[in-house]
Amino acid sequence: MSIARTRATSEGATLLPEVLAFTSSLLPDLALLRADLVGSLAHLRMLAETGLVSREDAKRIHEGLVAIWNEARAGKLQLPPEEDVHMAVEAELFARIGEAAGRLHTARSRNDQVALDLRLHVRDQIAAVLENLANLLELLIERAEKEGDLLLPSYTHRQRAQPIRLAYWLAGYGAMFARDVDAFVFAFEQADLLPLGVGAVAGTGLPIDREMTRRLLRFSDLTCNGLDTVGDRDFALDFAYAVARLLLHASRLAADVVDFASSEFGFVRLGGEIACGSSLMPHKRNPDVFELVRGRSARGIGNLVSLLTLVKGLPGGYQRDLQEDRAAVLESGPMAVSVLEILVRALPHVHFDREACLAALREDYTQATDLAEALVARGLPFREAYRIVGELVHVCRQRGIPLEKVEPALARTIDPRFDEEILATAAVEASVERKVSRGSTGPIAVAHQIEFLWDAAQRAREEAARIPTVEQLFESLREFP
Ligand code: ARG
Repeated sequence: MSIARTRATSEGATLLPEVLAFTSSLLPDLALLRADLVGSLAHLRMLAETGLVSREDAKRIHEGLVAIWNEARAGKLQLPPEEDVHMAVEAELFARIGEAAGRLHTARSRNDQVALDLRLHVRDQIAAVLENLANLLELLIERAEKEGDLLLPSYTHRQRAQPIRLAYWLAGYGAMFARDVDAFVFAFEQADLLPLGVGAVAGTGLPIDREMTRRLLRFSDLTCNGLDTVGDRDFALDFAYAVARLLLHASRLAADVVDFASSEFGFVRLGGEIACGSSLMPHKRNPDVFELVRGRSARGIGNLVSLLTLVKGLPGGYQRDLQEDRAAVLESGPMAVSVLEILVRALPHVHFDREACLAALREDYTQATDLAEALVARGLPFREAYRIVGELVHVCRQRGIPLEKVEPALARTIDPRFDEEILATAAVEASVERKVSRGSTGPIAVAHQIEFLWDAAQRAREEAARIPTVEQLFESLREFP
């Protein structure tokens, strides 16, 4: 056991099994197995090309690595109980091909190896997240085009504010997810540097060719300093941040849906495909999917905080503490993907109720600002217009009259400048139509926003397509040249 130990390490003693158990990352590392194998295939090819390993040995090692990949793929691989996936693969290779296995780790340390595995993994996960972000953006766009003209209240301070179109609500969340595309593209660029070749910390005296390994693994460049490289998890932090922020956006969307589905709002009805029940109360139609989307964001934030705290205070170079990055990094990608996938599955079963949304707008004076703006258009100072509309709303509220129904005679008792034309601006539909400036809720303005979302979805797909996945790299490396 434990091949990463010499007599200098052990002085003849055997490692306590409790120490191996405590220090091993093999279990969580298994999610890195494919990346580890691909990294080794590329490293090996470089060693063979530079003459550091003979072609004959390289071929045997190559075949051993490919066999391990195939068995892992078939779910038949049983790795020996080593400290981590790197040692387990080497031990397994040794069991299969003997001494030649010992040449694979030439000019390599687990410190640069694990940095490589993580970077390959993060790139791979970002490709999946971007694909799913594109799916969600396209869903929001499609929905906006189909029933975007439905009117509902917007909220500030969770009080009804102004009428908006459903397309605007959808595009609002779309704008957040479009920013997430940028964040993941940035995280990809940060991860897209080859760390391999700096060895444990100071580089190697052997004539390696990092540039060749970089090309084989399709990294855009090399990391610049080994001391930094082996202790650097900034790319993982950027990735975890992008995931945490994406989950915050999903969480806020979910919070709206949870509220809208309550009887108090009554804006949406959840289809039977997604409504969950209560084990006790027979009448319930609960929005569990959206509550869990909201809840899961806590874990995303936790992962980011745990990585930040892990790196804080570490001295330069590699420290074993870094192995504790595993849970946080490895959970992030699949969690982001699963949240995006469930939103795409569930949102089509959230049905908006036109009448209920309109009633909410009408009963709550959400067009008051429109009246004030109409008076401003007549030349009143805004503050004056604001004050007299406030008076009008106060009187209407006391008498239970909605703004659309105010008689000019009543309005004129408050201010003679309220005439039919001014009062007509309180029509809910007209309120929305008048919002023409960029970024507002009017149809033309929202069409611009939808265009922007299309571009973001397009960009997400393009970026995802140009990111080399671990699978693609394996395909390009599986044949020994
Ligand atoms: N298992 C370690 C990790 O995941 C690999 C590097 C360990 N290096 C060492 N000399 N113990 O970070």
